[in-house]
Amino acid sequence: MLKISKLKKIKSNFPVIVGEQIISKKVCNSLIKEITNSKSFDDMIMGGRSRINKGSKNFNKYISSSKISKKLFSTFNSQSFYKKIDKKFKTEFKANTWESLFKPKKFNKKKYTLKRKVNSKELKKLLGKNYKNPNLNLDIDFSVSKGGYRLRPHRDDVNRLYNFLIYLSDIPKKNGGSLTLYKKKANKNLRKSFKRFPKINELDKLKEFTPKQGSVIFFKSTPNSYHGVNRFKEKNCPKRFFIYGSYALNKPVIWKYKNFEYHPHIVATKKRMLTSFHDSNYLLKYYKLCKL
Ligand SMILES: [Fe+2]
Repeated sequence: MLKISKLKKIKSNFPVIVGEQIISKKVCNSLIKEITNSKSFDDMIMGGRSRINKGSKNFNKYISSSKISKKLFSTFNSQSFYKKIDKKFKTEFKANTWESLFKPKKFNKKKYTLKRKVNSKELKKLLGKNYKNPNLNLDIDFSVSKGGYRLRPHRDDVNRLYNFLIYLSDIPKKNGGSLTLYKKKANKNLRKSFKRFPKINELDKLKEFTPKQGSVIFFKSTPNSYHGVNRFKEKNCPKRFFIYGSYALNKPVIWKYKNFEYHPHIVATKKRMLTSFHDSNYLLKYYKLCKL
């Protein structure tokens, strides 16, 4: 269903692999049909993105009546597929790369990251204090965006290892809705912190991807994996159909880069919101001194 060997690394400051025609046009069109036929969506976010999320009753109903979506879901929702992706990253990015300090023990097909509104105190409780021995799960949603959809530059939730996007429709460049990868401006050797939502003037554009039918991107959800989507204009253009997902831990990822460790810090707020709206920054915890 997916031609993983066609995914190639790009020049970036965090690990990214991309490819075109990874999924056939026929499969993409079937997936579009299935999403279009879905009578209900779980939520609408970011100014116009309707989602069917793994974990909801709606999702189970959708999967049971959508043959191709079910096939794609079962492919992704397996330890063997995760291992293929992980191996691909390991071979493409050998030295000096970002790694999770604790390797996941077990892949849990049934688990998913909760999508409910919490304040920072509740979120901290959910994430816990012990980050060792994490388990792994797939989070995935089938999405369609209408005009107005946009995403300001950000890094994803702290429990994510890999994120991926599958584009099902072709969007002309003039209609926006492209995925932009960013890089922090100053090139410091050692960063003490990575904000979740840096200001736009702190970032340089690294690469822009116009959604193309059948193209796929995977990236490691490292502290510096800044990305966003510019405003999508629907005029004379199909809706933006896509699948978004991640391989996530059941606890926060402690990221290791060379000898440095970065730990997440959740910013205090009384406001109840989805975890993806919470401000969390990765802070340098300590670094091991090299033996002289
Ligand atoms: Fe994101």
